[in-house]
Amino acid sequence: MDDRWNVAVLVGSLRKESFNRKMANVLCKMAPASLDLEIVEIGNLPLYNQDDDANPPPASAAFKARIAQADAVLFVTPEYNRSVPGVLKNALDIASRPYGKSAWNGKPCAVISVSPGAIGGFGANHHLRQSLVFLNMPTLQQPEAYIGGAADLFDAQGNLAKESTREFMRNFLTAFAAWIERNATASSARHANAAPNGSRAERAAQPPRSS
Ligand code: FNR
Repeated sequence: MDDRWNVAVLVGSLRKESFNRKMANVLCKMAPASLDLEIVEIGNLPLYNQDDDANPPPASAAFKARIAQADAVLFVTPEYNRSVPGVLKNALDIASRPYGKSAWNGKPCAVISVSPGAIGGFGANHHLRQSLVFLNMPTLQQPEAYIGGAADLFDAQGNLAKESTREFMRNFLTAFAAWIERNATASSARHANAAPNGSRAERAAQPPRSS
């Protein structure tokens, strides 16, 4: 039985050659043993419409159910006009409703922004964090990941070209794994069901440790 934490990875770009998608793909491969990273597609989602709350479109309902299954969420996003791309905001809105039935609630998460620019998508990274506060998602604080100079990040095979970037991302994922371990809630159904002794779920249900 899989006792890894299931992490839904959301990529904020639909572009075929997206640097952010390349980064997400790399991270899926280099994740530590405790994490199962899986990209959840958001490009097929209709625009959120509150009129549909009682009877959402099938793609929206399926997306929300997928997020509900995840133990944690990793956002990998570009910056559009100093903010979050609409496609990612739309996905956030879809799984947040109806009010009081958000699929995001309590799920630990982390944010990586990747940009060809020098400031590494800082604006998008922090606008996203504003929504994550309201959605009650404990968000990894350190290390921050504003990845600039994206045009030089990858080799022709889509691997990270520099060992320094690989090391940074390895450290980021290690910190994220510890963050999930510390912040996962009892609503982490997969682990509550999966672990016969409930070990992970029991640990996760404890109050946060003092640091
Ligand atoms: C951008 N880009 C951009 N970059 C940035 O650093 N800050 C910004 O505010 C913006 N704004 C912006 C708006 C729109 C509509 C587009 C299409 C692009 C450039 C952006 O970082 C670049 O296109 C990246 O390559 C997008 O990420 P992906 O698709 O490579 O993952």
